[in-house]
Amino acid sequence: MTQNYRAFVGPENKYDVMSAIQFIRLFQIGLRGDSTLLEIGAGSLRAARLFIPYLKENHYFGLEPERWLVEDGLSKELGKDIFTIKKPHFVYNREFNFSGLSLPSQGVDYCLAQSIFSHTSVQQFQMALSKVTEVLAPKGVFIATYVRGEKDYGGDQWVYPGCVTFRAETVERMAEKSGLIVREMEWLHPNDQTWVLFAKDPAKLNAIAVSDTVLLDEYVNTITELRRRIARVKSFLPIKVLLWMRNKFGS
Ligand SMILES: C[S@@+](CC[C@H](N)C(=O)[O-])C[C@H]1O[C@@H](n2cnc3c(N)ncnc32)[C@H](O)[C@@H]1O
Repeated sequence: MTQNYRAFVGPENKYDVMSAIQFIRLFQIGLRGDSTLLEIGAGSLRAARLFIPYLKENHYFGLEPERWLVEDGLSKELGKDIFTIKKPHFVYNREFNFSGLSLPSQGVDYCLAQSIFSHTSVQQFQMALSKVTEVLAPKGVFIATYVRGEKDYGGDQWVYPGCVTFRAETVERMAEKSGLIVREMEWLHPNDQTWVLFAKDPAKLNAIAVSDTVLLDEYVNTITELRRRIARVKSFLPIKVLLWMRNKFGS
């Protein structure tokens, strides 16, 4: 039986939401068209179908063990011309081995692992963090999700499609062991996973708002300030006269 490339990576009815949410989060933490992005477990390009057209050519790098998923994603979501136009790079392995990707020598700006650590053993999680540390730029950010729980998954195998849990302390300890700092984000996730950011430079994480509420507060403050300024302008006599004339005689 041929497998469904969309259903393989999660609930099919959330495929679109899971694409968008990853793009939104990356954009929110600073990814722009000229950033470089390394995606671990790119799957059927659920997120990459937005990232690859958005980024400059040679700026997207993906690792995925299941080659057929990437090939289906390319032919059914993006079209093969994307290879010529945007030149995305892929490697296929389970060892977080990025050596075949010709990553930028200064390191990648962003790394993404969405719903990967929800299936790994602790050893695989640790290995991924260490490998990312080797290729992340000094000011780079690694954004990932995992299922936070009371217990650490104790097995040594990848679990799929089921999920495994890790304690927040375990994630912190693993990050520290790899020379990274970690910050848990207060962002909702469509499948109740926890968003975390890893970085080498604490200042980089401090500059990112931990919750959407902070961001919303900023928008509300900006709008309030703009309304105040508009009200001030409208209170000037010449403006008042102009507004009165526009009301009376039309524009
Ligand atoms: C839940 S899917 C998430 C796919 C993608 N990140 C997304 O959000 O659309 C998990 C993916 O991890 C891949 N995977 C399995 N073992 C892996 C490993 N050792 N390293 C990286 N990815 C792996 C699977 O093939 C699958 O594509």
